[in-house]
Amino acid sequence: MSSGLGAERGADESRHGMWSGRWLFVMAAAGSAVGLGNIWKFPYMAGENGGGAFVVVYLLCVALVGIPIMMAEVLLGREGRLSPINTMRALTLTSRASSAWVLIGWMGVLAGFLILSYYAVIAGWALKYIVSLADGTFNGANGEFANRAFNDFLANPGEMILWQTVFMCLTVYIVAKGVTGGLEKAIRWFMPLLLVLLVVLLGYGINSGGFEQGVDFMFRFDWDALGVDGVLVAMGQAFFTLSLGMGAIMAYGAYVPSNVSITTSVVTIAVLDTVVAIVAGLAIFPIVFANGLEPDQGPGLMFVTLPLAFGQMPLGALFGALFFVLVSFAAITSAISLTEPALAFLVEEYNAKRSRVAISLGVICWVLGLGSVFSFNLLADVHVVGSMTFFDFVDYVSQNLMLPLGGLAIALFTGFVLPKANVRAQLGLKGGLPEFLWNTLVRVVSPLAVLTIFAYTIYKNIG
Ligand code: TRP
Repeated sequence: MSSGLGAERGADESRHGMWSGRWLFVMAAAGSAVGLGNIWKFPYMAGENGGGAFVVVYLLCVALVGIPIMMAEVLLGREGRLSPINTMRALTLTSRASSAWVLIGWMGVLAGFLILSYYAVIAGWALKYIVSLADGTFNGANGEFANRAFNDFLANPGEMILWQTVFMCLTVYIVAKGVTGGLEKAIRWFMPLLLVLLVVLLGYGINSGGFEQGVDFMFRFDWDALGVDGVLVAMGQAFFTLSLGMGAIMAYGAYVPSNVSITTSVVTIAVLDTVVAIVAGLAIFPIVFANGLEPDQGPGLMFVTLPLAFGQMPLGALFGALFFVLVSFAAITSAISLTEPALAFLVEEYNAKRSRVAISLGVICWVLGLGSVFSFNLLADVHVVGSMTFFDFVDYVSQNLMLPLGGLAIALFTGFVLPKANVRAQLGLKGGLPEFLWNTLVRVVSPLAVLTIFAYTIYKNIG
């Protein structure tokens, strides 16, 4: 992160630069949080896991696990002022703790690679759909047509690689340049605009004739429909959507000025992120039911339902193309944060040039991503574990295992290992109810929630 992190220098600052104030941090972190996870992943995961019960578990995880762990990440980052790996190295020294905690940083770098590898593939789909909507492909389309268009696209690895490459190049370019003033100014416009367009889609959903069914699906608490792994998936989704567990937020935390309130910023970020996900769900499910589509169709859900809605709207080609521009933009601001922990580390360790590092990281993720591209066509029948394709596997392991494990370790380190005085200073705690609440959440509730959900899944899968 080079610019946007204003130039003021003084005590207690990161060598990579600093956010110029509370709002820039909130926007950068919200830019990281709001992405494909909210608009693409959340609705299809809710759809595959029965709706209501999934949404409830997800919301509970965001509030009780996500918020405390995000606060912990920002706090650790600001305490260390370095890349997550070096921050953990420094903090294990000040805490006289085992250097094993540094594994949090290393696992995060690995998780970042895995996630970005397939993230770029899906973001490539969004880029492709900018063109498809703009050229009127979906004007007046019905459900069957939208389905077929999507499946034809998936069957064509060459085209998928093309768009994956475009996305990866855009990301590397921005990361290499540093986040310029231009991008930051754009975020100010893109984020609100994205929300406005989602609300337009929501309005369409309300009038589509499927709204009641959509709301019912999303909020009716049907425990049985959640299934064995659903709880684990809901928790993983909470981590994924808030960008937690791999050090992205810790890296951003290193650039937060000391006078910014961590609690207020984190709550704002979590609320923004949740609103976008819920509105996306409320826009997509009515369209599913009004058009006789299936809610559990998996990763294609957004790419089938939304073009359908745009195809039937006046000026749909224009709005549709604009919508996918915004989704792609949201994906880029998230992708950037996936590279930051590795990038900052390599810059610190080897004094490497940001641009060189960015290109190398990009190439590795691109190659890994080919596995995900082929999971939808050439290698669709190759199952890595159980019935999982390569894409399913990378997604599952990173989101449902690595992120929660990372989050657990972060909570335990912050709650039990880091000296209390440092934590209190970072959060401005002076005893009383706030401190009690914080301690309960970070020491008891979030670690126990993660452990319980892990144990429950293992037990159910064996039993
Ligand atoms: N949160 C982003 C989304 O919802 C994805 C993302 C960005 C992410 N950085 C991350 C996920 C770090 C996990 C960890 O699309």
